[in-house]
Amino acid sequence: MIGNALPLMKDRSERLWDRALRVIPAGTQTFSKGPGQYVSGVAPKYIQRGLGGRVWDPDGNEFIDYGMALGPIILGHAYPRVNEAIAAQLRDGITFTLMHPLEVELAEQLAAIVPCAEMVRFGKNGSDATAGAVRIARACTKRDKIACCGYHGWQDWYIGSTSRGLGVPAAVTLLTAHFEYNNIDSLYTLFRQHSGQIAAVVLEPVNFFPPRPGFLEDVKDLTHRNGAILVFDEVITGFRFSVGGAQALFGVVPDLAAFGKAMGNGMPISALVGKGELMRVLNDAFYSFTFAGEAVSLAASLATICEIREKRVLDHIWRMGARLIDGYNRIVAELGLKRLTKCIGYPCWPKVVFNDGDGHASPLLETLFQQEIVKRGILTRPGMFVCYSHGPHDVDETISVYRLALQVLAEAVERDAVREHLEGDIIEPVIRSVLQAPR
Ligand SMILES: Cc1ncc(COP(=O)(O)O)c(C=O)c1O
Repeated sequence: MIGNALPLMKDRSERLWDRALRVIPAGTQTFSKGPGQYVSGVAPKYIQRGLGGRVWDPDGNEFIDYGMALGPIILGHAYPRVNEAIAAQLRDGITFTLMHPLEVELAEQLAAIVPCAEMVRFGKNGSDATAGAVRIARACTKRDKIACCGYHGWQDWYIGSTSRGLGVPAAVTLLTAHFEYNNIDSLYTLFRQHSGQIAAVVLEPVNFFPPRPGFLEDVKDLTHRNGAILVFDEVITGFRFSVGGAQALFGVVPDLAAFGKAMGNGMPISALVGKGELMRVLNDAFYSFTFAGEAVSLAASLATICEIREKRVLDHIWRMGARLIDGYNRIVAELGLKRLTKCIGYPCWPKVVFNDGDGHASPLLETLFQQEIVKRGILTRPGMFVCYSHGPHDVDETISVYRLALQVLAEAVERDAVREHLEGDIIEPVIRSVLQAPR
């Protein structure tokens, strides 16, 4: 079915959605999985099951999946080695009254592979780890303000500083300010305006754009000169850009770091890691919750990390990603679309971008592209999470679909009829803006 452009069957998806709207606010547990992120009326709304690099929706439609549950699935869906580790731990029990030995084993494993990880604490979501890092920084520096760059989760300290800050006390929103990636002057400005008040600089060390030479080093230097703590948010980059995270790839070691997503191949686990002298604040500061040491996720994470290391998983992912980027950009050149779209980013996390020809992002073209690929069996947001189970044939099949979708797009642009081609609503960003201006 991959490649055909017949309308998808979606009765079951739509019926579930109608029921969801009655009992689930926003209809979803995760904004980024909600219908606003895909072309409504065209894309499925639910996934029933997955295997390797593919998923099936409740109506039986099959997709090559690059959404990968927003990044966690690094090996593949229902991956045998991880499933076996989960099953073995399930037979012994899930979570207990006292600590579990796997806590020690996994903490030692992370300490061995992540440069800044002298000590480790676990969590469930990336937001646990980033919020924990902020608490440590505030406790250690006796300062309250945070400078950040990127997305860092749902907790008040971060989300209050974005357009999604409804419900966060105003006093808290005033404590976080944003700086711009690859613009050291913007961080310098924050330190000048909030002199002696910034506890931590929290940033995604890399995203779709490479750091300018010296940028990460300059951030570290400026942060330390101002008496603040450097936190790398490696929730996406960890176990994807390199096993030890972006800090290992770029050779810039932060004081603290947050890991999550890929470390359990889909099981809910995250880690707050860092220098011992800072992490020991957690002897007193409260970072403690019922499921932090839940054993099934610890077992899954150990199996995932072993598999990533033993099978050289990231080499494969980078190779497949490079094939995807090259394939996309070759078609773009052939169809004369270079002005409007290209595939950017590192091979482990490529992203297709669209603009209107005048340098502005084009949600309209992005939506048309999404519509045409999902109808032909590719499920992804613009950022594509390549996994170990995606083989060359999957990537080549994907590129064939991209060719067909880009042909539709080229023809629509040529006839100035993009809007007429749309069968659903234009895709909306989850967070429209952050409060950039320092306050
Ligand atoms: C860079 C980054 N940090 C933190 C988070 C928050 O992680 P979670 O949604 O698991 O709480 C995310 C989630 O997408 C993320 O991409």
